[in-house]
Amino acid sequence: MRVDAAANLIGRRGGPGGRVLMLGSHTDTVEAGGRFDGIVGVVGALEVARCLNEAGVELSLPLEVVDFLCEEPTIVNLSPLGSRIMAGNLTGEHFGGAVTPFGDALTDAIDALGGDSANVEAARRSLGEIAGYLELHIEQGVVLERESLAIGVVTSIAAPCRARVSLTGVADHAGATPMNERRDGLAGAAELVLAVERIARAPDMIEEGVGTVGWLSVSPNMVNVIPGRVDLTVEVRSTDAEALAIARRSVDEELRAIADRRGLEHTVEWQHVERPVPLPEHMQGAVAQACEDLGFPVRRLPSRASHDAARLAPVAPAGMVFIRCKEGRSHCPEEWADLDDIVQGARVLGQALFRVDEMARNA
Ligand code: GLV
Ligand code: MN
Ligand code: MN
Repeated sequence: MRVDAAANLIGRRGGPGGRVLMLGSHTDTVEAGGRFDGIVGVVGALEVARCLNEAGVELSLPLEVVDFLCEEPTIVNLSPLGSRIMAGNLTGEHFGGAVTPFGDALTDAIDALGGDSANVEAARRSLGEIAGYLELHIEQGVVLERESLAIGVVTSIAAPCRARVSLTGVADHAGATPMNERRDGLAGAAELVLAVERIARAPDMIEEGVGTVGWLSVSPNMVNVIPGRVDLTVEVRSTDAEALAIARRSVDEELRAIADRRGLEHTVEWQHVERPVPLPEHMQGAVAQACEDLGFPVRRLPSRASHDAARLAPVAPAGMVFIRCKEGRSHCPEEWADLDDIVQGARVLGQALFRVDEMARNA
């Protein structure tokens, strides 16, 4: 076991060097979140490794099990950290003055976990080093549960795009300022929240399109003061790159129109822009074949949530196994998956690993 320069926690089975097979996910969770998102994938991967050891099974390549650093973006808005760093998509230059909500510099936090923040590039893997990456995860949706299925084969992963927006008006007396003389930042933000909802529901966005304003900071946030400034985040996601581009453009246009109409100043910065990730056919095939081997129907579905698999995709052929979760609830304390489904998911993960190993051996 080791901690790489990005503070990813990595267990390795097999000799040093060369190409590897990789299983993993994350063990961090959103604030006020659940206990299954990410964690199931790491525990499932460890279980696969344990079973291989107990059964004395040799794979043709060494196996790594990775608990990726900081997948959830709630800790610093650069996240996911570990998988992006491993893929070379995030370097030390991006860290700048990033500070965790606990007040530590991101660099110090990485070092405290055993990483090497001055040298995170050492965690980078190049194309070809990872023969295949597989991730087990709860679906975070209702498709499998509604169809009474335990297992799903992920086809593609929707891309989140996130903007930081500010709307600035004039803080003033909530009693003494007439309605027609106000420049209320929060009233403008409220319009933007509804605009984001409308944009995400537009036919252009296709089925997996979603939009959310999940965070607002209102200033000065007093009962008797007109809100002078609001900072907020806008997130849009889709599995369709074109729909996503249209949604981002529409957010920018709506924001400009709202600000003009209300005499507000505005800024918008798309800080996090991803592209949808179709998972390679042969990796989908490995998971589908594993389902067939174990007697599960093959149900293919896209992922609306994002995952380390998507961030690792530029350097590793990635496949994902979904398991059913209760009422699709996730990023909330009610998040739940039955132990039996987790066990079945781990079995499919292990079987898919055999398939990927076979492909690696024959390549
Ligand atoms: C991951 O947690 C996501 O926000 O999709
Ligand atoms: Mn999550
Ligand atoms: Mn997750």
